[in-house]
Amino acid sequence: MQTEITELLGIQYPIIQGGMAWVAEHHLAAAVSEAGGLGLIGAANAPAEWVREQIRAAKNLTEQPFGVNIMLMSPYADEVAQVVAEEGVKVVTTGAGSPEKYMEQWKQSGIRVIPVVASVALAKRMERCGADAVVAEGCESGGHVGESTTMALVPQVVDAVQIPVIAAGGIADGRGIAAAFMLGAKAVQMGTRFIATQEAQVHESYKNQVLRAKDIDTRVTGRSTGHPVRALRNEMTKRYLELEQEGASFEELEQLTLGGLRRAVVEGDVRMGSMMAGQCAGLVREILPCSELVPQLMQEAKACMKGIRIDE
Ligand SMILES: Cc1cc2nc3c(=O)[nH]c(=O)nc-3n(C[C@H](O)[C@H](O)[C@H](O)COP(=O)(O)O)c2cc1C
Repeated sequence: MQTEITELLGIQYPIIQGGMAWVAEHHLAAAVSEAGGLGLIGAANAPAEWVREQIRAAKNLTEQPFGVNIMLMSPYADEVAQVVAEEGVKVVTTGAGSPEKYMEQWKQSGIRVIPVVASVALAKRMERCGADAVVAEGCESGGHVGESTTMALVPQVVDAVQIPVIAAGGIADGRGIAAAFMLGAKAVQMGTRFIATQEAQVHESYKNQVLRAKDIDTRVTGRSTGHPVRALRNEMTKRYLELEQEGASFEELEQLTLGGLRRAVVEGDVRMGSMMAGQCAGLVREILPCSELVPQLMQEAKACMKGIRIDE
């Protein structure tokens, strides 16, 4: 299925795997790209040399294009920005800020730049500074969230910019993909669904919690500090929300989540770790290899779109 995004990125299917901190390392990214989507390595707060190694490791596993997600608030953002250019990465997505200061260098290196946005205003600003596309991410998603839902945000961003829009947040199956196309998106980015894949180097306990999750099993912590994060509910989110209600300080709250995602991903601490996941976790029922999942998602989406009939 060809769209402006598959053409822009040179991929087979309009499906992007979100650049998830701790989760999106080279095995997963390469597997998604091999399956015909676009895999991303999540640079998060990792040092630049780790990112370089990950890029090289992914290149050993696939010749297909893959990308790197750069968290602009990372203390290593400047160095990582340099590494992606040096290593010939094809696509960069950015989160937590504006990549304006890197744009010229990246463009000169032929990198496709795709910022993640949660508002129309930021989407317009990104278009003005030369972004090739934007990911419009609704607050159903796992990880850091904005205010608007995918359903409301995506068409408003589509109306506001000329560049192609990728929908993210709450999409876990072909129905969600088809719906995103109806809203005007040219591709989707999915995070939670890819946690439950064979290639995701995520502790089995965390994967199982995603499989077990029901529709109402996520919580957003950190609204009071201005850093809202969506994760599966557990003892950590319960304590966090209680402390927030009591008006606890930022430092006290941070103690609860510091290193929490790593504990969930690496150690399988499902009680006090931060099992970031979106509301669509309730739709995820099985762990699949990416080589099966990606084409299956596309088949489902196509079937949905064929089934649409407007009664006259
Ligand atoms: C465990 C986890 C970690 C994430 N880390 C990042 C990150 O470091 N940078 C980023 O831009 N987005 C991050 N995200 C968001 C995803 O890239 C993706 O946009 C989001 O998961 C899409 O929503 P969904 O979870 O409903 O599919 C993260 C999401 C999850 C679930």
